[in-house]
Amino acid sequence: MKRSLKTISKLILILSIFAIILPIKNFASDDINIENHDKHNSSDLKMGERLFFGLILTGDNTINCASCHNTAVVDTFNWNPSVLELAFSTQYMDSAAFANALLNPVTNRISVAHENVKLNAEQIVLIRNYIETYKTKGLDKPKILVTKLVIFIFLVVLFLTAFIDLTFTKKIKFKAIHGIVIFLALAFILKMIVHSAIGLGRSEGYAPLQPIKFSHQVHATDNKIDCIYCHHTAENAKSAGIPSTNVCLNCHELVREGTNSGRFEIKKILANTENKTAPEWIRIHKLPDHVFFSHAQHAGVGKLDCKECHGLIEEEHLASQYADLSMGWCLDCHRTRKVNFPGNEYYEKTFEEYHNQFKNKTLDSLTVAQVGGENCMKCHY
Ligand code: HEC
Ligand code: HEC
Ligand code: HEC
Ligand code: HEC
Ligand code: HEC
Ligand code: HEC
Repeated sequence: MKRSLKTISKLILILSIFAIILPIKNFASDDINIENHDKHNSSDLKMGERLFFGLILTGDNTINCASCHNTAVVDTFNWNPSVLELAFSTQYMDSAAFANALLNPVTNRISVAHENVKLNAEQIVLIRNYIETYKTKGLDKPKILVTKLVIFIFLVVLFLTAFIDLTFTKKIKFKAIHGIVIFLALAFILKMIVHSAIGLGRSEGYAPLQPIKFSHQVHATDNKIDCIYCHHTAENAKSAGIPSTNVCLNCHELVREGTNSGRFEIKKILANTENKTAPEWIRIHKLPDHVFFSHAQHAGVGKLDCKECHGLIEEEHLASQYADLSMGWCLDCHRTRKVNFPGNEYYEKTFEEYHNQFKNKTLDSLTVAQVGGENCMKCHY
């Protein structure tokens, strides 16, 4: 009995070690792919790669294309197209058109960006073939996730080892050591689990990269476009709404070039119109299905400024979630915020007693909570 337990615990240990090694190997597999092509092709791709990263001198100011065109998934905002976007945007160009797009830019933005590109025809083909490899392999994944996973697995193994030694193998005599290791490992494991579980539901600061680099700063601040111009149902409907491509076209039929992104991003709007598709905006604010929230009640009747709940989105290039959207957040405001009671016909009828108190001046203000803002059924279906 005791021996079979020992074998099982050894097996678990070996499996855990595999579990650590496997993800690390997976991560290195990108390089292997290139090696799999035939010899000639693979050395050409290597050349293309070196040219792309500016590792081969091509003039006085050799440029690193990757300094603008991201090759890895990043969570910071970058106005320039990623190498993956280039791979798709140039896929139907012939070689001449590609070289032209690179060397003879039509827009101000790109002519500055590509000023120092000094490549000959052969080098351009090499670079292009390298760019094309991203179509199948995609952008490099961020490393941070792998590191997190490895730490997590390491903690689990540590926990198991201590646990197994405490109950079965008994190699280490001092029980206190097991206790400390088990306690610490478990604490960190739980912390990591709780962190990622909360992250699934709601996330303050959530700012996904969007299909078009739409910037609130450029529109709402630099060009002083009113929020309601685009989110035109925000004051009288439940949902504020995301503008359709037609709204963008009101201006971008004419405005074809942006100061930061050149033509690349605005071209996507026109492509959407042509193909009758809509950009797949990634939803940022999302309450769970069991919660009812209406913009009309807040931005309309309550006359709250968008800022109170969305922060200074007009100063962001990349929109992000400002409040944590928790129940506590809603209630905190309802408990302190005064409503415009006098003159509000709905309230005056519903809350006659308050109405009389206002009249007798025994009451000078009411919070949202006092008129039902803490009532479960108001917010929960
Ligand atoms: C300083 C930043 C910068 C650098 C460096 C740079 N680019 Fe660009 N590139 C841009 C921007 C911005 C655009 C989009 C401009 C536009 O479409 O108006 C662009 C567009 C392109 C396009 C055209 C895409 C299309 O669909 O028309 C190609 C191809 C390209 N870059 C390749 C390269 C290569 C290859 C290098 C390195 C030799 C490089 N770029 C270096 C900023 C840069
Ligand atoms: C020119 C049109 C335009 C204007 C003006 C504009 N927005 Fe937006 N807004 C958008 C688009 C398009 C999106 C979706 C893309 C994104 O999230 O960046 C968006 C997204 C948002 C979101 C996030 C939606 C989500 O997914 O949760 C909020 C909040 C928002 N806008 C608030 C505002 C506020 C507040 C103002 C005024 C200061 C404003 N917007 C002005 C077009 C506009
Ligand atoms: C009321 C007019 C108006 C509307 C509506 C509008 N835009 Fe713009 N947009 C502009 C102006 C003006 C610029 C700035 C051009 C410049 O940089 O000189 C701009 C710039 C841009 C840029 C480039 C930013 C840069 O600096 O490179 C993008 C991308 C863009 N808009 C996307 C959109 C999208 C997507 C929509 C629809 C959701 C939209 N716009 C709706 C007026 C508008
Ligand atoms: C009292 C807080 C509050 C105010 C004020 C507010 N919002 Fe929101 N907004 C939210 C919440 C909460 C959500 C998420 C709604 C959901 O998931 O059902 C949201 C979602 C959005 C969205 C995403 C699409 C949608 O309608 O669900 C946009 C766009 C938006 N708000 C724009 C605005 C604009 C523009 C204003 C100002 C006119 C504004 N909001 C005022 C709390 C607020
Ligand atoms: C920044 C302050 C603020 C925040 C945050 C806020 N509210 Fe409100 N809410 C108000 C005000 C003010 C009113 C009253 C508007 C009026 O009728 O004058 C109100 C009214 C309501 C009502 C109607 C109550 C009634 O008596 O009819 C509901 C439902 C509601 N809010 C839901 C929510 C939910 C759900 C959230 C969170 C997702 C939320 N609110 C977050 C300020 C806020
Ligand atoms: C002002 C609006 C509002 C009122 C009033 C309100 N809730 Fe909530 N409630 C919310 C929101 C928003 C969430 C979603 C929170 C989240 O996603 O973390 C929520 C979530 C919940 C949840 C799910 C657990 C969780 O934290 O996600 C329960 C259970 C709940 N509420 C019960 C109640 C009960 C019981 C009452 C009455 C005493 C009540 N709520 C009143 C807004 C409200």
